[in-house]
Amino acid sequence: MTNILINTWTSLLPVDDDHPYRIGAWTPQTNEWNATEMAVQGEIPQDLNGVYLRNTENPLIPALDRYHPFDGDGMLHSMSFTHGTASYRNRMIETKGLAAELEHGSALWAGLAESPKKSIRQDGWGARTRMKDASSTDVVVHNGIALTSFYQCGDLYQLDPHTLENLGTTSWNGVFPAEGVSAHSKVDESTGELLFFNYSTTYPYMHYGVVSANGDLVTYTDIPLPGPRLPHDMAFTQNFSILNDCPLFWDEELLKRDIYATQFHKEMPTRIGVIPRHGTSSDIQWFECEATYVLHWINAYEEGDEIILDGYFEFDPSPTMPPNADLNTRLFRFLDLYALQSRPYRWRLNRRTGLVKEGPISDTITEFGMINNAYAGHKYDYTYSAMPVQGWFLFEGIIKHSVQKGSEESFRFDDGTYCSETVFAPRTNSQSEDDGYLISFTTNTVTETSDCVVFEAQRLSDGPIATIRLPEKICSGTHSYWSNQNL
Ligand SMILES: [Fe+2]
Repeated sequence: MTNILINTWTSLLPVDDDHPYRIGAWTPQTNEWNATEMAVQGEIPQDLNGVYLRNTENPLIPALDRYHPFDGDGMLHSMSFTHGTASYRNRMIETKGLAAELEHGSALWAGLAESPKKSIRQDGWGARTRMKDASSTDVVVHNGIALTSFYQCGDLYQLDPHTLENLGTTSWNGVFPAEGVSAHSKVDESTGELLFFNYSTTYPYMHYGVVSANGDLVTYTDIPLPGPRLPHDMAFTQNFSILNDCPLFWDEELLKRDIYATQFHKEMPTRIGVIPRHGTSSDIQWFECEATYVLHWINAYEEGDEIILDGYFEFDPSPTMPPNADLNTRLFRFLDLYALQSRPYRWRLNRRTGLVKEGPISDTITEFGMINNAYAGHKYDYTYSAMPVQGWFLFEGIIKHSVQKGSEESFRFDDGTYCSETVFAPRTNSQSEDDGYLISFTTNTVTETSDCVVFEAQRLSDGPIATIRLPEKICSGTHSYWSNQNL
């Protein structure tokens, strides 16, 4: 094993930290590693070539008052595969916010569970809606560069997808939107375009844009909404992009007093907006659907007059609290996907009639679904979702679901081992949609170790075919990405 310790960051967190989302599987790291020749159980496939990236919330600085795991500073992990070998790196995402807080010696911004009135920085600098722009939510690879992003709309931080070299923020030749970019921008592998949105507390409340394959912002348009909203994800088909206005949002009157309280309005529809890929606000067609909140979409495609849209429908977006719930239970209720009852669901949006047919695909509680990226925007069959842990924002297994046939196959890790959002990596010269591998990072809280696990996507329940030991236990996080880009 060759593990080279590249750098160790200084953590300002207490040594005897007991915050439930900074211990166990959520223990932040301070070390940055380069690792090759890692111990492998099984065999790394020769026809697995590309890079698996995962962003994590990895705080180095205590919160002003109440830490929420979505406040954590970004740390990016990469596992590059080439012809039967693998190499691993991890790096802090060197955001301007992290640098400012380290220089200050303590937190400058209030987090998600804190009042923005408590922020020491009150000059509007940071994520565009509020908070430090931690760039810790999501990652994609566009135009050969890894782009990390933050769900409260911020800059896009650029890193080399293999070396994780810090390449600064993207400017798109000087026209990067003042409103920032949300997490969950989408790369269309067919065209190389990057599709994105942002949202804010002021009119028009949302924008949508397209960046060309070579990095030029070619479309940017207002998406007027009835008020401030909390969209988290978008989807696309070959010709359309799909935005949303779910009836769970900040109270507009309270917002004027800087109070960010969310409320679910079960009497209001979920509105799904369909816009031509390079359209403007006048081209958008809104569809009214059953009230819910959709954290993540799975995929979308066109079929005749219809747009088929798959995502996770929350059957209880605002779960009631158990009696005598403690502070942490109240703070983290929206992290419990069992409480939210998040299930795969299909919307059929008829562009000609404006009518919607909708309903569940499966009764299984899952979220964080990934697909074969080559099928994004196209008719597809398979999604690979995370099996959440009841009461926690952790994943204990992987489930492969056929959205066309309705079949399911799963793999559950040993007790105390938690996986990441799991990507599909096509085999070199892949012959079918699921001809390839599933890749995830795991954190074992019993042995205090982490691995990168590789499964045959057509034989998920058989378990990993390769288990690669990482230099140290890594922190849990949110989103990941597979890029076919070779070393
Ligand atoms: Fe997300």
